[in-house]
Amino acid sequence: MSTTFGNVFRRVNVKTLSFIVGAGALAGSATGTVMEYQDMRNYNNRNYNKQKLAALAAAHVAAKEKYDVAKYQKVYNDIALKIRDEDEYDDFIGYGPVLVRLAWHCAGTWDAKDNTGGPYGGTYRFAMETNDPSNNGLQNAAKFLEPIHEKYPWLSHGDLYSLAGVTAIQEMQGPTIPWRSGRVDQPEDTTPENGRLPDASKDAKYVRCFFHRLNFEDRQVVALLGAHALGKTHLKNSGFEGPWGAATNIFTNEFYNNLLNEKWDLITNDAGNKQYVNDKGWMMLPTDMALVQDPKYLPIVKEFANDQDTFFKEFTKAFVVLLENGIDFPQENKPIKFKTLDAQDL
Ligand code: HEM
Repeated sequence: MSTTFGNVFRRVNVKTLSFIVGAGALAGSATGTVMEYQDMRNYNNRNYNKQKLAALAAAHVAAKEKYDVAKYQKVYNDIALKIRDEDEYDDFIGYGPVLVRLAWHCAGTWDAKDNTGGPYGGTYRFAMETNDPSNNGLQNAAKFLEPIHEKYPWLSHGDLYSLAGVTAIQEMQGPTIPWRSGRVDQPEDTTPENGRLPDASKDAKYVRCFFHRLNFEDRQVVALLGAHALGKTHLKNSGFEGPWGAATNIFTNEFYNNLLNEKWDLITNDAGNKQYVNDKGWMMLPTDMALVQDPKYLPIVKEFANDQDTFFKEFTKAFVVLLENGIDFPQENKPIKFKTLDAQDL
């Protein structure tokens, strides 16, 4: 596939594409959508073009197949069961946090200005992005997902990475994150250059400016960073060390409470980087601490510390946007709300 086609493809509405596939030669003449087909079924006009109706019917069947909830729930379940089985990873934190970080890093390269990078093309699979120093440690997450991709080769990489992040959050007792399929693998030359992911040594001004590139406002930024309740930093990956709190594989609002209530000292760690530590062995990055240092971020931190439900709601909204940035989903592609393994008694 040529670059030009790749770029054009990205912006083509998926409903048009499914239509082309479903309707074959008729696609050129018929430009309707599945919605239109449903309307037309109720439209009692004998002059209605039969060919167009047939093409719309084909698109309808293709879309039903394409957006079948059960087949994505099966993928969800396989990822969730694998997280549950392989719980010894990273000193029994498990794969949940690193899968969330993978989903975020795939999406976090997006640039709102020109719609490059981001969650759509699954370009993390290419060496340039895999080897971005900001992505150190995510190879473990990608390896974890390999057998899932082998079992479901029809799933695009963008869908796989984002779905794995959603699965991980829900299985770690986080909120239900409505998720849509429809990302399409793009060629290697659409891989964003290194250096688009954030630098943890910076201050509030930098954080605000960084997330502005992704179109996020203060409230969404504070909500997204609450994911740092999960997992830990690793000296060998990022040059920072330690977890943010006690519950490293349960999704809670602990991050905000720790920011506000712990006594933090700024130290230089073994890699020569500055990080905040407390007497319990927990840590904060300079970009985390920026949230209590900045007068606009601080009241939002307090609100989320006091009210986990509000945090869950705001995180959900922001995370959905993150995973969908730059993507034009067809109207009939409704978000899926997955059931956790517990809810299915599995
Ligand atoms: C200013 C923005 C951010 C910065 C500078 C930042 C920085 C970092 C760093 C340095 C690590 C440690 C990686 C390692 O050593 O293994 C990390 C881990 C992590 N980050 Fe962020 N992050 C940011 C935003 C986010 C967002 C928006 C999310 C998700 C919504 C997120 C989720 C995670 C998770 C879950 C981990 C733990 C991974 C693990 O345990 O392996 N981060 N982050």
